[in-house]
Amino acid sequence: MPLQRRDFLVGLGGSSILSSSALAATRTLPEFTFHIVTDTHIGRQDNEAALKQWKRVADELNAASGAFVLHLGDVVDSGREAQYPVYMDVRKTINKPVHEIPGNHDPLDLFAKYIRPRIDMSFGHGGVRFVLFNNSDRESHLGFIKPPQLEWLKSELAEAAKADQFAVLCCHVPVHTNLHPDRGWYVKPADGQTELYALLEQHKNRVLGLFHGHFHNGIRGWDDHRPFIECCFPSCCYNQDRKLVNHPMLKGFVVDDLRIGYTNVTLGGGKMILAYKPLGAESTARHETAIP
Ligand SMILES: [Fe+2]
Repeated sequence: MPLQRRDFLVGLGGSSILSSSALAATRTLPEFTFHIVTDTHIGRQDNEAALKQWKRVADELNAASGAFVLHLGDVVDSGREAQYPVYMDVRKTINKPVHEIPGNHDPLDLFAKYIRPRIDMSFGHGGVRFVLFNNSDRESHLGFIKPPQLEWLKSELAEAAKADQFAVLCCHVPVHTNLHPDRGWYVKPADGQTELYALLEQHKNRVLGLFHGHFHNGIRGWDDHRPFIECCFPSCCYNQDRKLVNHPMLKGFVVDDLRIGYTNVTLGGGKMILAYKPLGAESTARHETAIP
């Protein structure tokens, strides 16, 4: 599906000879790959297991070909301040940009102090605007998108439209409603879900995905708001088996792999490929979605 191309048309003197299919073809994304890690939980159970795994992930990322890394929250476990420098020492060894968002285990003041002063931010890569924002709370497993953030998201998507970019939104807690056998942790309608979906509806063919951490259940996602997908990504600290594969009540998609690991995401050529990458093993499981 084409993006809104008003600016492009104006730039061509308002030419009306371009058909919508021609516009769609011009906006097929060039292919690129990036990596998603999440829920490192450094310091968990007051031992070094999580740190050792983070080091192994960093080594693999250094050998991988993706352009950058997204970390979708819960950098440290239970707000342990001393663990942020420990996390950063390993992070500094990664030979590509790493962009984090906070999770419910990350106090915002500590995230701002050790990771990045400005928490809600965006950056562009390959014609896609990656919009990163905090929707988690230290006191809850639920997600919250506050009115000033909705205004900011509105302006971010307006900027994406102006620049003719696609968009990917990243926040720790999934926005999509979910109940048993899932965790039941999401952004409730009154806490910003309704407004966000209404905003995304206005940018329906621009937004490619909503990406999250938080679940520790491997790759688990929903595609009922196509053309964008919503997805929780595997933790590289621990994942739990909630018997989601082939569960009779399950809606959406799940990738059958619960090993600790990360995800290689490839956009372009009309596809979004989420390839599960277990630590120290070959990537086998994947989920594929059609995109513009
Ligand atoms: Fe977590």
